[in-house]
Amino acid sequence: LHIIHIAAEVAPVAKVGGLGDVVTGLSKSLQKKGHLVEIVVPKYDCMQYDLIRDFRALDVVVESYFDRQLFRNKIWVGTVEGLPVYFIEPHHPLKFFWRGQYYGEHDDFKRFSFFSRAALELLLKADKKPDIIHCHDWQTAFVAPLYWEIYAHKGLNSARLCFTCHNFEYQGTAPASELASCGLDVNHLNTPDRMQDSSAHDRVNPVKGAIVFSNIVTTVSPTYAEEVQTPEGGRGLHTTLNSHSRKFMGILNGIDTDLWNPATDTFLKVQYNSTDLQGKSENKEALKKLLELSSADATQPLIGCISRLVPQKGVHLIRHAIYRTIELGGQFVLLGSSPVHHIQREFEGIASHFQSHEHARLILKYDESLSRMIYGASDMFIIPSIFEPCGLTQMIAMRYGSIPIARKTGGLNDSVFDVDDESIPVQFRNGFTFSTPDEQGVNSALDRALSRYKEDRASWQQLVHKVMSIDFSWDSSASEYEELYHKSVARARAAKR
Ligand code: ADP
Ligand code: GLC
Repeated sequence: LHIIHIAAEVAPVAKVGGLGDVVTGLSKSLQKKGHLVEIVVPKYDCMQYDLIRDFRALDVVVESYFDRQLFRNKIWVGTVEGLPVYFIEPHHPLKFFWRGQYYGEHDDFKRFSFFSRAALELLLKADKKPDIIHCHDWQTAFVAPLYWEIYAHKGLNSARLCFTCHNFEYQGTAPASELASCGLDVNHLNTPDRMQDSSAHDRVNPVKGAIVFSNIVTTVSPTYAEEVQTPEGGRGLHTTLNSHSRKFMGILNGIDTDLWNPATDTFLKVQYNSTDLQGKSENKEALKKLLELSSADATQPLIGCISRLVPQKGVHLIRHAIYRTIELGGQFVLLGSSPVHHIQREFEGIASHFQSHEHARLILKYDESLSRMIYGASDMFIIPSIFEPCGLTQMIAMRYGSIPIARKTGGLNDSVFDVDDESIPVQFRNGFTFSTPDEQGVNSALDRALSRYKEDRASWQQLVHKVMSIDFSWDSSASEYEELYHKSVARARAAKR
């Protein structure tokens, strides 16, 4: 198949969170299975250009429509992790992707509806005939309605549309009139069965549009797929999802096991694998030194947490876990940053409180190399999310032999299974879980984890060995996407006959 992903992120070049990891990981796996996979993203000024191979501008100009005018787009191409990637640079006076950050601009709706239309224009101009156009999250949700309303009649008519929602919290709603900028017909689309937001009749909802107009709709874990089809979990979209449930399913993300591999990770002081864990202790020692934590006791458990600090991630429970860990005689390292001003400020306060503490350190920034050192050094890894569509950090942690302590929600519920849960077959039990999103819930898992670590070293080592051997690669999840693509293409062909 010829598959084109259109997305706002591609790791490691343009990554804010798990979305970037998924676009790259899934694409690599599909490419390995023999498909032709290409990716289209915006050309941001803040990308990591040094990670793009053979980066060059193409000798074409793609014009795209916006606000009743045609704008020129310069097209760049390069290779990211072995994948062909197109980067769109709009020549628009508002410099949409020249803002020093990926998201969080007042005109994000404009920026990404512009990009969605320009991406389709690029496919048309380059005479691409993809079997599948796969879009991700609200930023590229405009592609599906644009495709069926405009581009299917323009010659781009062979494709099936797949949309993956990585987080239903972000739906990108805006006043309905804004939809006209990218050429969509507001009167036609601002209806309850198309793009109208369920809570305000004069607002449109791009994610709803993508659900309605795509042939395949997925989210990133089976449990989250169930949660979002309920009134509590769907954030206003449960009725839309229910009426399109036949094309909707949850597929658990994988991780890129080449990129996340303690046996080859050059950011680690010492590489290691599950049969030789001496290296893991050396990484722990090295991280403690680097962060000036006490290294008097090598057996003192080190708990890691790497997270965007937003309410979804259970920030108050992360804060509680820091204090509780110290109370219980452990050490804690948090790496995270927050786009929410008051949360960032609150954690800056906690960070300065622990500035020269022997047993806790908070590092409030985005830092890929430090993240790898923490995965490699920590004995346990806490993810106390309030909700979590999939979550990748628990899988990465396990790959690096750090035992997850997670709340049972969304994708955490599909990947972390409590060591003491007798309803789960023993071979699947891999961590510590809790249900209630409160301090008692955290304690119930954290306390058990720390006492198990201290009291039963042999069984702990076995657990570490076991979690490092779990297959979190994309292989089986990419096969599920492959099957959905094939079925959808076959249905379209049958309908044409
Ligand atoms: P989300 O996409 O909701 O943030 P995921 O668990 O799916 O959560 O993915 C988070 C990704 O971002 C992981 O690869 C994690 O290592 C990375 N990450 C999160 N915060 C930081 C940070 N401060 N520094 C480096 N990497 C981070
Ligand atoms: C979103 C979700 C996260 C998921 C990631 C990749 O950012 O918050 O749970 O793992 O997307 O799908």
